[in-house]
Amino acid sequence: MPNKATLEVNNQKYDFPLFVGTENEVAIDVKALRAATGGVTTIDPGYKNTGSCLSDITFLDGEKGILRYRGYSIEELAEKADFLEVVYLLIFGELPNAEQLDKFHTDIKLKSVVDDDIKKIIDAFPKSAHPMGVLSSLTSALTAFNPSSVNVDSEAEMYNAIIKILGKFPVLVAWTLRKQQGLPLDYGDNSLGYVQNILKMMFCKPNENYVENKIVLEALNKLLILHADHEQNCSTSTVRIVGSSHAGLFASISAGISALWGPLHGGANQAVLEMLEAIKQDGGDTKKYMAKAKDKQDPFRLMGFGHRVYKNFDPRAKIIKAEADKVLADLGVEDPILGIAKGLEQEALNDPYFVDRKLYPNVDFYSGIIYRAMNIPVEMFTVMFALGRLPGWIAQWREMRLRKEPIGRPRQVYTGENLRAFVDLNKR
Ligand code: CMC
Repeated sequence: MPNKATLEVNNQKYDFPLFVGTENEVAIDVKALRAATGGVTTIDPGYKNTGSCLSDITFLDGEKGILRYRGYSIEELAEKADFLEVVYLLIFGELPNAEQLDKFHTDIKLKSVVDDDIKKIIDAFPKSAHPMGVLSSLTSALTAFNPSSVNVDSEAEMYNAIIKILGKFPVLVAWTLRKQQGLPLDYGDNSLGYVQNILKMMFCKPNENYVENKIVLEALNKLLILHADHEQNCSTSTVRIVGSSHAGLFASISAGISALWGPLHGGANQAVLEMLEAIKQDGGDTKKYMAKAKDKQDPFRLMGFGHRVYKNFDPRAKIIKAEADKVLADLGVEDPILGIAKGLEQEALNDPYFVDRKLYPNVDFYSGIIYRAMNIPVEMFTVMFALGRLPGWIAQWREMRLRKEPIGRPRQVYTGENLRAFVDLNKR
């Protein structure tokens, strides 16, 4: 294979080295482009062709439908691992042994108390506030309550920031839900497992003994693993770019939550459920909505379909679809929107519009159906995505800081007015 790419600009040839990743992905290294060419830059809206970093964390092959964390396949991790093991794997690069996992969990538990004054901030939000707005504000507020910035030259300080957010974030998630439902802002039980405790914190009632549901626990463990990282997506790139200014971990994660909120990204899980519900209310006519999705004059998109990178089935969607069938059957829930979702999927898979554009169900298409069966309100779906994505954001932020990456600052090509003289107000 050649080891350089040659670019010709204004009859002048320039060579650029090729970089080949461990899975043989090839990239043209254009670091020297502007200096060599006297200021020529690249334009790539949405960064569809631009690699922003080198990363050892997640491998994704969108054509083959492959997703691996640190070399382990998503299928095997979802089947065999505990979420906290995956958290450790993503952040530190290896699966923990029993002793490492135990210490990690103990360290997280020791940092899981949230300053009680945070409750005053929660109090100030209306009950109707969207949980993603609340969560991003509370995560940002953690910086104010934990002001010491991370000294990345010290592994110990970085570790401290990581276990703090892993301890406090589930509490904020649970309190966001509890605020919405008018429930007291309590803690769970630190003798429980990490995911077990999340469920208890979310669902325990002040006047009832909390009873764990094993099916719900297993499903949540799997969903969190499936969402845990997805390389340089919109929210992760946001975390890396905010962190690249040396803003702290909590501020960077808070920015990631805001990026995740949008319906083209994590907000799609809420949008999917609302779409399926609307189709049901409208008589279940999936053909009508398929036609709307294909009509270029209509802004409607089939939510939960399509992906920037996957041009084949999203491997996470495959697992989640099977899990939706299982969880609903195990819980004895009959949800008509599962039938509508399957009907839409079948039609899309046989429709040239979707086939030609390689639009397949993504991770968000079936996840909301499981969340609903677990009694999680629809506005909380993207919060659950954030809970799962937290370790990915942390791992990517840590990698970016340890590699001492430069501040993220893209270029542009200016297309506005040339220099013109100021016109006085009375002459405009
Ligand atoms: N329904 C109808 N048409 C679609 C859809 C869709 N869901 N997605 C893409 N297209 C069409 C699009 O109109 C375009 O058609 P044309 O070539 O005729 O102009 C073509 O497919 C390519 O779409 P694109 O918008 O250029 O592709 P993209 O890579 O910029 O966008 C996407 C990817 C995920 C934003 C998009 O597929 C989409 O909006 N999907 C619905 C929202 C969604 O489910 N998002 C969750 C993504 S997975 C989880 C996550 O990232 O958090």
